[in-house]
Amino acid sequence: MNPYLLRCLELAHRAPPSVGVNPRVGALLVESERILAEGWHERPGGPHAEIAAIEAVPPSLRERIPAATLYVSLEPCCHAGKRTPPCTGRILAEGIGRVVVGCCDPNPQVAGRGIETLRQAGVAVELAPDPRPFEAVIRPFARSIRRRRPYVILKWAETADGKIGRSSGERLLISGSEALRYVHQLRSRSQAIMVGKNTVRRDNPLLNVRYAPGQPPVRILFDIDLDLDPTLAVFRPDAPVIVINHRRNESQGHLHYFVPHNKTAYIRLDILLGELYERCGIGTLLVEGGRYLLQQFLNQDVFDEVHVLRGPQTAPEADVTAPRLPDELYLDYIAPLGADLLFIYYPSNPNR
Ligand SMILES: NC(=O)c1ccc[n+]([C@@H]2O[C@H](COP(=O)([O-])OP(=O)(O)OC[C@H]3O[C@@H](n4cnc5c(N)ncnc54)[C@H](OP(=O)(O)O)[C@@H]3O)[C@@H](O)[C@H]2O)c1
Repeated sequence: MNPYLLRCLELAHRAPPSVGVNPRVGALLVESERILAEGWHERPGGPHAEIAAIEAVPPSLRERIPAATLYVSLEPCCHAGKRTPPCTGRILAEGIGRVVVGCCDPNPQVAGRGIETLRQAGVAVELAPDPRPFEAVIRPFARSIRRRRPYVILKWAETADGKIGRSSGERLLISGSEALRYVHQLRSRSQAIMVGKNTVRRDNPLLNVRYAPGQPPVRILFDIDLDLDPTLAVFRPDAPVIVINHRRNESQGHLHYFVPHNKTAYIRLDILLGELYERCGIGTLLVEGGRYLLQQFLNQDVFDEVHVLRGPQTAPEADVTAPRLPDELYLDYIAPLGADLLFIYYPSNPNR
């Protein structure tokens, strides 16, 4: 791969999960084999990667911008009506004559029109010979913009005999330290994390990021009648907390009480997630249990990936069994994590 395009991919990965419903994008300006500046998309409503790169060019090098090539992992946007102006306008205003693009923007408002706008204005636009690595970086964005709901990863840990917990509330230790690190990496890459009410009550989980670098995700809870104990760990102020309920629709500091507009959202997860996407800007969601909640996601076919961590021990006395996987999944990946095994499944038809 062209090293500048590869660098765009590295920069795209710097975008934090809080970019939410926006794509992760990296860009750089190169003139005579010298990198003038680099940029990436850092926050929703903030400058897009190509604008960040343009603005990062030191004043002494600005006169070289028209002679530079702009490398960008995703097609520049061309549509107005959002928080930032179209990137194509700024590229043209800067007089940049050549742009190399990793892949087309799946956003129906762009979808090739950004490239077309630049070409019609006389800019030489090239596409990467293989768009797949660039499409992989924006996969959650591509899926969520099409379905207008967050990209959903379901995750649980189960024993070798398929148990995930004890209804008594007594702790069931399943995963070793490598598997725990993996879970915390997953959390650090997710914008939000969701758990069922019984899990909150029985396990009192912290749902933060301790065994990996990164920020704690937004926590999303079900507390329909608002009767959960406010001293539970999930309510700590280290991250925003969205409390789905049917009484209060207001924010108090880090607590966001959320009443769905559409009442069927209480039983239809696609509708609930649609509202979390549109109203709260939630673009990626990790669902960590318990059984009831995970099974709802599986039964209603509202997920994009399933990660199962299977421990080496059995727990014959534990009574909460693992969710039942639908037949139409395909197992894409198996890897050992210490004594645990990680299984990653995808729906057979991701475009369903
Ligand atoms: N091993 C693992 O990875 C793992 C992870 C998490 C949890 N667990 C275990 O799982 C067990 C808990 O699982 P569980 O099946 O009993 O319960 P759960 O899935 O944690 O919570 C279910 C409850 O959440 C609320 N809820 C879920 N979906 C909702 C929706 N769409 N709308 C409104 N409310 C909704 C309901 O509470 P109300 O009916 O009260 O309103 C529902 O009864 C615990 O033993 C825990 O240790 C294991």
